[in-house]
Amino acid sequence: MKILVVGSGGREHALVWKLRQSPHTERIFCAPGNAGTAEIGENVAIPASDLEALVRFAKENRVDLTVIGPDDPLAAGIVDLFAAEKLRAFGPTKFAARVEASKIFAKELMHAQKIPTAESGTFSDSNEALRYCERLKFPVVIKADGLALGKGVVIADDAAAARSTIDEMMNQRRFGDAGQRIVIEELLRGTECSLHALVDGRNYLLLQSARDHKRAFDGDQGPNTGGMGAFSPANNWNSRLQSQFETEIMRPFLRGLLQEGIKFRGLLYPGLMITGEGLRVLEFNCRFGDPETQALLPRMKSDLVPLLKATIDGRIDTCAIEWDTRAAVTVVLASGGYPGKYESGQPISGLADAAKLEGVQIFHAGTKRAQGEIRTAGGRVLAVTALGSTIEDARERVYDAVSRIHFENCQYRRDIALNAVAANIESLS
Ligand code: AMP
Ligand code: GLY
Repeated sequence: MKILVVGSGGREHALVWKLRQSPHTERIFCAPGNAGTAEIGENVAIPASDLEALVRFAKENRVDLTVIGPDDPLAAGIVDLFAAEKLRAFGPTKFAARVEASKIFAKELMHAQKIPTAESGTFSDSNEALRYCERLKFPVVIKADGLALGKGVVIADDAAAARSTIDEMMNQRRFGDAGQRIVIEELLRGTECSLHALVDGRNYLLLQSARDHKRAFDGDQGPNTGGMGAFSPANNWNSRLQSQFETEIMRPFLRGLLQEGIKFRGLLYPGLMITGEGLRVLEFNCRFGDPETQALLPRMKSDLVPLLKATIDGRIDTCAIEWDTRAAVTVVLASGGYPGKYESGQPISGLADAAKLEGVQIFHAGTKRAQGEIRTAGGRVLAVTALGSTIEDARERVYDAVSRIHFENCQYRRDIALNAVAANIESLS
């Protein structure tokens, strides 16, 4: 088979890495890809936003399966365009991608199916939004309805902060149309967990649990980022939560989608908060998580190609996934300044030395080859994953690998999965 992966981040490198191991794969392309995908596949210079050019490429090159990494092309309808040309693409249609592209749509579906989530109101009028905030207890969470590059969620500690956030989103249009409507909800307290499910319209198959670290700095300080690290399995997940999750969240959500006439086919990734009162859904994503994918795929022993095909063909109920029992820890190396301003073009050294370590896999994100060497070319530069017999062992291995990689102003968190190690030690004592 010829496979095309759309996107250029660490998630896409992990997908290319996993898919090319399949005996079904003859050639693998990545559009536009990065320096890492170029080493194991063929990069194609088409941005993920140029849907027409991607369709043309897939047609001309007789691509058998296209896997869409990021949310934007899905929300823009890339899978519909591929389907119109009888090309197979993995991911939901534009209509179904609204589970992520419209927080209001997702909230309404959750309310209709009584799925546990934060109490919320939705607003298209800024004065009404303000009045609602004054009724809630601070802090409150304010969310732009549409996609906002992971920046559309703000926790407002008091009325003044809420007022300026609402003004920025709704009146000053900081996120354009995405902030025309907003959701305001109660702040949930607890620990987060990411679940990934291959959904074929009716049935689903869960991947292993994972947790990500969204804040920029150690101790969960600093601004929210695309994700600074992840680990799998999640230390706060267990079979009791999983069965509650399936009964109270997954099944009602898929039923709700079908009632709306939506056949969701692709990867559904609910972000959950485990609170003192039980599970709550924070959001639904319609694609693989980044960096969770870089922690999950090295643990997946099964061939991913038949799983993606079965998802598209509506027979995921006939599949199972075999997992490596080892734990995975992923650390993201970012350019200094990220998620704010940062410099690109810095040479990266030590990659080969780090990659030699047992159980270590290096995924590229913002990298490119220039003047004969690999250089930084983005905010998140690399995602380094290590497998280990325990989370602690994986942590030691991953930080050993990270310490061998260098570029100017490299920024990374030292505490990825640390709370999981601490929790394990506590539960044993
Ligand atoms: P979302 O895009 O809705 O998942 O929000 C991004 C991140 O904001 C989540 O992963 C949480 O860390 C945080 N968040 C969102 N909603 C809430 C909430 N109601 N309470 C606490 N944290 C939240
Ligand atoms: N890990 C966060 C995301 O992919 O949205």
